[in-house]
Amino acid sequence: TTVFISADMASVALGADALADAFARAGCTVVRTGSRGLFAIEPLVEVQEGEARIGYGRVGPDDVAAILSGDHPRRLGPVDALPFFARQQRFTFARCGINDPLDMAAYAASGGWRGLEAARAMAPQAVVDAVKASGLRGRGGAGFPTGIKWQTVLDARPAEKFVVCNADEGDSGTFADRMLMEGDPYCLIEGMAIAAHAVGAGHGYVYIRSEYPFAIRAMQGAIERSASLLAPFTLEVRVGAGAYVCGEETALLDSIEGKRGQVRAKPPLPAIEGLFGQPTVINNVLSLAAVPFILSEGAEAYAAVGLGRSRGTMPVQLAGNIRNGGLFEIGFGISLGELVETVGGGTASGRPVRAVQVGGPLGAYIPPSMFDLPFDYESFAAAGALIGHAGITVFDDTVDMAQMARFAMEFCAVESCGKCTPCRIGSTRGVETIDRIIAGGRGGDRVEALPQMRNAKARQKIVEQEIALLRDLCDTMKYGSLCALGGFTPYPVLSALDHFPEDFGAPAMPAA
Ligand code: NAI
Ligand code: SF4
Repeated sequence: TTVFISADMASVALGADALADAFARAGCTVVRTGSRGLFAIEPLVEVQEGEARIGYGRVGPDDVAAILSGDHPRRLGPVDALPFFARQQRFTFARCGINDPLDMAAYAASGGWRGLEAARAMAPQAVVDAVKASGLRGRGGAGFPTGIKWQTVLDARPAEKFVVCNADEGDSGTFADRMLMEGDPYCLIEGMAIAAHAVGAGHGYVYIRSEYPFAIRAMQGAIERSASLLAPFTLEVRVGAGAYVCGEETALLDSIEGKRGQVRAKPPLPAIEGLFGQPTVINNVLSLAAVPFILSEGAEAYAAVGLGRSRGTMPVQLAGNIRNGGLFEIGFGISLGELVETVGGGTASGRPVRAVQVGGPLGAYIPPSMFDLPFDYESFAAAGALIGHAGITVFDDTVDMAQMARFAMEFCAVESCGKCTPCRIGSTRGVETIDRIIAGGRGGDRVEALPQMRNAKARQKIVEQEIALLRDLCDTMKYGSLCALGGFTPYPVLSALDHFPEDFGAPAMPAA
């Protein structure tokens, strides 16, 4: 009997290794794969029965005998047919959870390298044109058109050029980059080799955060095994050292160069003067991993799904207090409410959803009253939010939104690279201001001056003044910061204040 069990870091944390050992001891052939992406049913074992893979979810070593006899109560049926998977449009994650991630033959047999072959038969400009025609936009968060970025590098002066993959996935509630690198590393490598051909780069770097040891190992193993196929293009892994700001592209380049990761002023853009001052393509894992599909299946096939200017699919990551936590890849345009309530199944605690934060610690908090919002770049921007790297973190009605706003400022203060004043100083002043609001609105004891104000009306006035000050500070941070860390921290703060004014002990001030 052949069984498939994920060796993904999250699956292992849930007990997948012990499960795999137990099946091996029972005489089964155990294939370790990446994760399918629905962590709510892991550890998951898939038993090969004819053509089908029959899943058994949330099982352990004690369940092995019953599973092999075929009548275990946690038999889920064919995994592909489970509603969570059947509904997805897996363009990028098609192989994740299916193959042994390092098996070159399995990769080739499932359509791998076809995109690279197609690209290498084309002129670089034709490859760039195909990426432009697909409508692919940067999946790291900013949504800049990938084809235009590549065009800039292709058109840059003749020089040694680089391809850099940003795998410093630092956003809370995100794990798509990690899952892809662990579950289908050749897909990312193929995307990078296509980018190298398109812009004329000879060498590439994958910059992976140190918190991802499994992904580092998988990428290193895959690079070694595919080296001859990639030649003359060469690739290497660089490991980060735990700074959130190194996910910002110019700080990341500094870090690869061996310097302390600090944000550089733009311009010059990395596309013109990037790594070691040379023209550089720098893209997120998901942007690069989307490219093999575009080249092998055609730009039209990719562009055929999506909404408005947001074309193709987005691997959405459902996290926080949610029943069906996991990765769900689907074309842009699905509503936020559908993702949270239908796909995600609501909160894990069973309590009502109060807020979701989309786009990591710099993303806005969105209340259920806005759940009709279609999941695409423009709709979110129009609503004062961002989809970012498409992490959705769910909170139930026990969340204190003033504390969440405080956390955003505190996070910024801790992770600030210190280069510019609005972020370095503003975030600390922001924590203090929110503390005064919390203390004033609720009669807390953190602020010395306020408890003397026995008069409720006077206290209220002070809170309103502090809220106005906070809005003013957010304005300065938004427009005066050098990078997204300081510039986007106002999103969670102001959205918490606008949508949940009651948590700040005062009625909302009109938005600036
Ligand atoms: P940005 O808008 O400054 O730039 C986007 C990309 O387009 C960059 O690579 C830039 O170099 C490139 N670009 C801009 N104009 C260009 C041109 N004319 N030619 C060629 N390339 C051009 O945004 P930034 O600061 O790179 O990213 C901010 C985003 O990062 C936010 O939206 C946020 O969601 C996201 N983010 C993602 C995180 C993650 O873990 N993935 C963590 C924190 C933030
Ligand atoms: Fe550094 Fe913050 Fe300024 Fe970004 S906004 S450059 S992290 S100080």
